[in-house]
Amino acid sequence: MKIPNPILTLFILLNPPLVLANIETCSDSVCQVREPVIRFPFRIEGQHAEPCGYPGFIVSCNQNAQTHLNLPNWGPLKIQTINYAAQQLWVNDPDNCLPKRLLSLNLSVSPFRAVYHQQFTFFNCSVKLPNLVRRYRPIGCLSDSPKYAVFATPSTTVVGHLSSVCDFVATVKVPVQSPFYDQVTSSELGEDLRLSWDSPACGRCESHGGRCGFKSDETFELDCYGFPSKGRSRPH
Ligand SMILES: *[C@@H]1O[C@H](CO)[C@@H](O)[C@H](O)[C@H]1NC(C)=O
Ligand SMILES: *[C@@H]1O[C@H](CO)[C@@H](O)[C@H](O)[C@H]1NC(C)=O
Repeated sequence: MKIPNPILTLFILLNPPLVLANIETCSDSVCQVREPVIRFPFRIEGQHAEPCGYPGFIVSCNQNAQTHLNLPNWGPLKIQTINYAAQQLWVNDPDNCLPKRLLSLNLSVSPFRAVYHQQFTFFNCSVKLPNLVRRYRPIGCLSDSPKYAVFATPSTTVVGHLSSVCDFVATVKVPVQSPFYDQVTSSELGEDLRLSWDSPACGRCESHGGRCGFKSDETFELDCYGFPSKGRSRPH
């Protein structure tokens, strides 16, 4: 029969296994003051060790200390806000031309999805039609020539009108911030995109003041730390 060594038991109690220590040292980080706080499931490349983040949640700080989310198929997005409890984030284009990015939107291989989306149709119109520019709002950053103007509309009536006089560009499902109950005729589409993630499901842990992380390096099993009622009783 193996008799537990009291000294060893005491040692283990005082020193939790190293992997757990690692998770607990995955501290909150920021690119600079007033930028969003980054923690699990996100990790800042070069600041947090790899087990501090979930695959696909890679953040970097650009040379202006802006917080960028790096999506595999879609290039960097500027993170405006993260709501860890709701598992949602708000992003925009670091180059301030979100509609241009929307034209190549592809979230299919990312862990993120739209909370709400609304379909917008883009048209490219010759400004020999000046009453169009008066009636609808052109997208400034895509209409950089005096010869044409680009419009995006969610309205089937406007689609009907513009498709008879302009070139069709694309139809895009835009991850808008809230469901639109009223139809706008056109939009510059500069507002932050609202995205959410389903996995890892750390919202409940976060909303109770806990912090989420991997249980160990070997599995993707999650644990909630500092959860007041159901938390791990930590040695001290
Ligand atoms: C998005 O990217 C995936 C993977 O590269 C590809 O299979 C899919 O066709 C793309 N979707 C669009 C709408 O481009
Ligand atoms: C709109 O049309 C102009 C002129 O044909 C073209 O140069 C421009 O790239 C087009 N813009 C978009 C967003 O399709």
